[in-house]
Amino acid sequence: MQIGIIGTGYVGLVTAVGLAELGHEVTGTDIVADKIDKASQGIAHIYEPGLEDLLKKNLQRGNLRFDHDLDKTIQSSDVLFVCVSTPQREDGSADMTYVEGVSRRIAENLNKYKLVVEKSTVPVRTSTWVKKTIDLYKKGDVEFDVASNPEFLREGSAIHDFMHPDRIVVGVETERARDMLVEIYQAYEDRILVTNIDTAELIKHASNSFLAMKISFINLLADLCERTEAEIESVARGMGLDERIGSQFLKAGVGYGGSCFPKDVRALIKIGEDLGVNMDLLRDVDKINLDRIAIVLEKLKKALWILKDKKIAVLGLAFKPETDDIRNAPSIAIIQALLGEGACVTLYDPQAAENIKAVIPENPPSVVYTRTALEALKGANAALLVTEWDEFKTLDLKKAHEIMDNPILIDGRNVFSPKKVRELGIEYASVGRK
Ligand code: UGA
Repeated sequence: MQIGIIGTGYVGLVTAVGLAELGHEVTGTDIVADKIDKASQGIAHIYEPGLEDLLKKNLQRGNLRFDHDLDKTIQSSDVLFVCVSTPQREDGSADMTYVEGVSRRIAENLNKYKLVVEKSTVPVRTSTWVKKTIDLYKKGDVEFDVASNPEFLREGSAIHDFMHPDRIVVGVETERARDMLVEIYQAYEDRILVTNIDTAELIKHASNSFLAMKISFINLLADLCERTEAEIESVARGMGLDERIGSQFLKAGVGYGGSCFPKDVRALIKIGEDLGVNMDLLRDVDKINLDRIAIVLEKLKKALWILKDKKIAVLGLAFKPETDDIRNAPSIAIIQALLGEGACVTLYDPQAAENIKAVIPENPPSVVYTRTALEALKGANAALLVTEWDEFKTLDLKKAHEIMDNPILIDGRNVFSPKKVRELGIEYASVGRK
């Protein structure tokens, strides 16, 4: 089987490399020439642990290739994984322009039977549109199938997740499509869940929205804890020990970000609305998450009263640790709000500073980027920890106390022990605990 990967962004590149590592013949293609040029040379255009090693290994082995020519890739493939982006539109719905465009190209190049697999996160019922589009534009009477095989990779551990999946969801409507996908994922035979296509499409949005709901739920409880003597971490532990609940995704903080959770929650809200379903539950999940920004700022104001002309050090800019991705990072909204209040910010992140600069350009003295956390803290009136990078866990707090103008630390991810920080004479506030 020849496998073609259309779109070698985050999902596509990892999928191409992962499927090649499983022993398949894979060709990746993308409209951005630079991505293909780099990938062909064994260079990953995104930072993902382990990705480049496997990319190089499979290029050398000869079963992984990259090609600029979409038409050629379609024609030579038996299976096409559609991995193009489905960005958020103004109204929250997913923009399906790229998926539609690719469907047309597949139709125009339908020279033999092909299985078209939706890998990108798409709204339920997308497959009916993909099928209709291919039928509308195909020239001869060539057969094809559409299937859904959503990905559940996390940024930062995508290769591990690909090689050790909890489940492989395969949504199909013909035996031929099922057999082909089961063969592709033979290595994980025991974890394949075969469903109809609508179900597979919905599983993806449902999983991300459920995890987002778990985070918003624990953040809501953190607010309750702050008004009582309850401690959020013990509440989360006590809940998580119940196997029905599970301990993961119960870390309270400044809220979820990234390219998936915020977008997928809103997309599912829109899907529900269009289908006449009351989606208030997910609307609240989104609202609770957005409110985290104001809650952090309140803590800062409680410590400093007026933020105008104050120098605030922001530690951690990426949407989560171990990535340079800043899409929907809570840090962006927090920094913009601080600047809106007339504060100056010194910003530090081990990986993501360059990316954030494109959104919030360096502009001294209002916006200054530093090379170390301590440099950011120098002369600051307060520090705000937004992303829990490991290096912050060992931050020299004694030194921090010395070099800050006011030793005030707002810990948005509960990284530090309140007792230890306060013993050093630092004024400290965290999330859902005293
Ligand atoms: C998420 C899902 O976990 C993947 O399964 C899915 O494939 C992916 O979206 C996608 O749809 O492509 P990812 O966006 O890489 O993966 O990030 P996560 O590790 O899930 O974290 C999401 C956000 O939740 C981060 O901002 C993180 O800081 C926050 N989070 C996570 C919390 O605030 N608390 C927690 O307990 C866990």
